[in-house]
Amino acid sequence: MKITVIGLGYLGATHAVAMAKIGHQVIGLETNEEKLDSLRSGKAGFYEPGLDEALVEQLAAGRLTFQSKHDENTASAELHFICVGTPQNKGSDSANTSYLFSAVRDLAPILHKDALVVGKSTVPVGTAALLTEELNKLVDFDAQLAWNPEFLREGTALEDSLKPDRLVVGVNSQFAEAKLREVFASMISSGVPFIVTDIPTAELVKSAANAFLATKISFINSMAEIAEVSGANASALAEAIGYDERIGNKFLRNGVGFGGGCLPKDIRALTARAEELGVGQAVSYLKEIDQVNLRRRVRVIALLKSELGELSGKKVLVLGAAFKPDSDDIRDSPALDIALLAKKAGAEVIVHDPVSLPGVRSKHPELICVEDLHEAFSGVDAVVLATEWKQYRELDAKSIADTVSNRLVIDGRNVLNVKAWQQAGFKVLALGRTIEGN
Ligand code: UGA
Repeated sequence: MKITVIGLGYLGATHAVAMAKIGHQVIGLETNEEKLDSLRSGKAGFYEPGLDEALVEQLAAGRLTFQSKHDENTASAELHFICVGTPQNKGSDSANTSYLFSAVRDLAPILHKDALVVGKSTVPVGTAALLTEELNKLVDFDAQLAWNPEFLREGTALEDSLKPDRLVVGVNSQFAEAKLREVFASMISSGVPFIVTDIPTAELVKSAANAFLATKISFINSMAEIAEVSGANASALAEAIGYDERIGNKFLRNGVGFGGGCLPKDIRALTARAEELGVGQAVSYLKEIDQVNLRRRVRVIALLKSELGELSGKKVLVLGAAFKPDSDDIRDSPALDIALLAKKAGAEVIVHDPVSLPGVRSKHPELICVEDLHEAFSGVDAVVLATEWKQYRELDAKSIADTVSNRLVIDGRNVLNVKAWQQAGFKVLALGRTIEGN
């Protein structure tokens, strides 16, 4: 099928490549010329394992092309996926949906009456209805719009797009359902559950999924707060409750909490939307989910101070800046926030990350970025593991013991081999548990 993918950020670029990979003829649309040049040269422009290789492959196969504006080429597409961003509005918890409205305004002049418009962006429930209204003001037929939320995770984005655990489509016509069944035919025939709902449900499914995931993480982190003052161990607790299938052991890792471009902004946007709809109380707990999450970052600073006293004049190494491993995304990253909080408290802060240092350097020149991992330990008074990259999990504590000036490590993700670090002479502290043998 000939399709367009509008907006080539994280979601759109991955979706465009995935759609080409399953055999569709894909035209990617992006207004940012720099991004377009990068995509045309086979680089997605962000770190995502396997994506650039697949992009190069699809460009070479001729199934994927990129352009900045609609024309007769995009006019003949049967389906238009809209994948533009919906960031948090400045000074408010709500989502900024203006890029969606711009996208439909740009699309209207070339939109064919037999083409389907499919929103994929994460939106406040009710947005699709407003977009349809906007579109219908601009065309002289009944525009067809559907919603198909995306559940991909950074770090495994392409794999998640090609083999999703479910496809959800919100439709209000048989035509829309048939077109979506056609575009996803290969996935449906390989057994991916295909869930057809009304449009508001499909919009809300995405907000609900992210709110649930955030709640799970903050739930275990709230238990961590209790564990820290009662001598209990939140990691052991997570394992114990996780064996109950009704609870499940996934997304119960306690530590410095969640970040990124999705979970934090999506719980805030859901709260804002519920308030607009007059049912703010229904999700008022999400404000506490947010607070529990932010308190974990402050806890790390408290641990540093309890060991080092005032932080001014102290040198702190933060391992990791990305919000999670296998990503260079530093949006709302707990690791980066900890680095900034330590800096604000007066410490000299060194940051190491395998891939995200260029972004840190340009946004936060006050932090000292060191590329070489071994060098980063030089003369530091404390090490904070804040993002669980493989190279940090597998660090040989002995090899850096003589490089630091004080052997103190805070395991913000509960991933280190405590015994090995203690044997190398380090005092090990962690979130959600008291470490014996220091
Ligand atoms: C999240 C959702 O998992 C995806 O399903 C969704 O499609 C995506 O948002 C989106 O809305 O686009 P992502 O932001 O890539 O995906 O990251 P996650 O894997 O969900 O991790 C989020 C944060 O939670 C990370 O900072 C991670 O370190 C943290 N986390 C995760 C924990 O602190 N504990 C856990 O047990 C799991």
